[in-house]
Amino acid sequence: MNTRFLLLLAMPLLAAGCANNQAEEPSRLKNEVAEAKKVDAPPPASLDCLYPPLSPEPAFLLAMLGMAAPMSGIAVDLEEGDFDFARANYDKFATRYREVSKMVPEWEAAFPYGPVQKISAALTNRDVPQVMAALQEAGRICHDCHIKNATRVQQKYAWRDFPRVTATDPVTGQTVNFGQLMMSLETAFEGIAVDLEQRQVDKARKHLAAFSGRMQTLAETCMICHDTERKYYVDASLQTLIEKVRVELNKPSPDAKSVGALRQQIGMETCLKCHRVHTPAAYAQARWREGQAAR
Ligand code: HEC
Ligand code: HEC
Ligand code: HEC
Repeated sequence: MNTRFLLLLAMPLLAAGCANNQAEEPSRLKNEVAEAKKVDAPPPASLDCLYPPLSPEPAFLLAMLGMAAPMSGIAVDLEEGDFDFARANYDKFATRYREVSKMVPEWEAAFPYGPVQKISAALTNRDVPQVMAALQEAGRICHDCHIKNATRVQQKYAWRDFPRVTATDPVTGQTVNFGQLMMSLETAFEGIAVDLEQRQVDKARKHLAAFSGRMQTLAETCMICHDTERKYYVDASLQTLIEKVRVELNKPSPDAKSVGALRQQIGMETCLKCHRVHTPAAYAQARWREGQAAR
């Protein structure tokens, strides 16, 4: 894009108050970059032992759920005026909180005990608003860690590595990994338009056949990660669009414009939407792999 245009866009923003921050900009930027790198680092390696394949079950996730239940139980019991049950739930919660705080040594400091003790004190006073306030304060501990760490833990452990997903390319017969399948899918998809533009209609038809075959192969990879059938991005409506492209390309003189419109629909509904769901995890893993290789 034209840089002058970008500058023009940026000017009103600067005028609207960003200019005030200019003096502190370099150091603030440095801090932000350092913070972003921390957040973007892979989660602590000691978690490896708490998730498959090293652990038979996602032990850390289960411990979280086991700690959350009695914590919510305190509030449930209080609403019903059951102080004794609330105390029993508190004891369970406090024990599990201590256990969980020891699971990941790098995170022990992120489990301060003070706010938890405040819940106990408020329960002893039988002061419901005070208990609720203490619960809320303890809840901040949970939330602070979740917004920093929960997503990257999911990205590392709940998502299989995309490069380890392999398939047989229907055109070349070769075994390819997921990224390679994507690149050849892309080539076939673009090839339809490129050759049509050059009025090489036969070649465009060949690209469509390759594209259609590779989409079929892609659809078969879904079940490698999903244990129930997922159709969404590769469902019957995609087949209908591919069929429409085929009908157009089989005409003696195909209309590039209508093929373009159909390709755009495929790009938006299939490629882009599937990317929005799956690439955040795939790219996070790729950044962590590349970071490791660089070290
Ligand atoms: C499963 C849903 C899914 C569908 C449907 C899908 N993709 Fe992808 N695509 C991915 C994922 C995941 C990656 C990242 C793979 C990786 O980095 O290992 C990717 C990566 C890519 C890349 C590489 C981008 C880069 O920067 O490396 C291209 C190109 C691409 N896809 C094209 C397409 C096209 C064209 C379509 C539609 C015709 C499509 N994809 C449909 C999931 C999908
Ligand atoms: C030091 C970090 C940390 C602290 C503190 C923490 N958690 Fe978590 N929690 C996590 C991570 C990481 C995950 C994601 C685990 C996963 O998806 O495998 C998680 C997931 C959860 C989940 C599952 C959420 C979902 O996605 O369905 C619950 C429930 C939960 N935590 C409750 C709590 C409660 C309640 C507290 C506070 C008393 C707490 N956590 C404190 C790190 C933390
Ligand atoms: C490398 C593993 C992997 C592959 C391959 C993969 N997915 Fe997913 N997908 C996931 C994960 C992980 C989630 C998050 C939800 C979960 O844990 O199931 C997800 C979420 C989704 C969702 C949204 C939530 C849901 O479960 O409905 C859809 C839809 C989806 N995928 C469709 C597909 C389709 C269609 C394909 C094949 C073209 C595909 N996926 C291939 C791992 C994968």
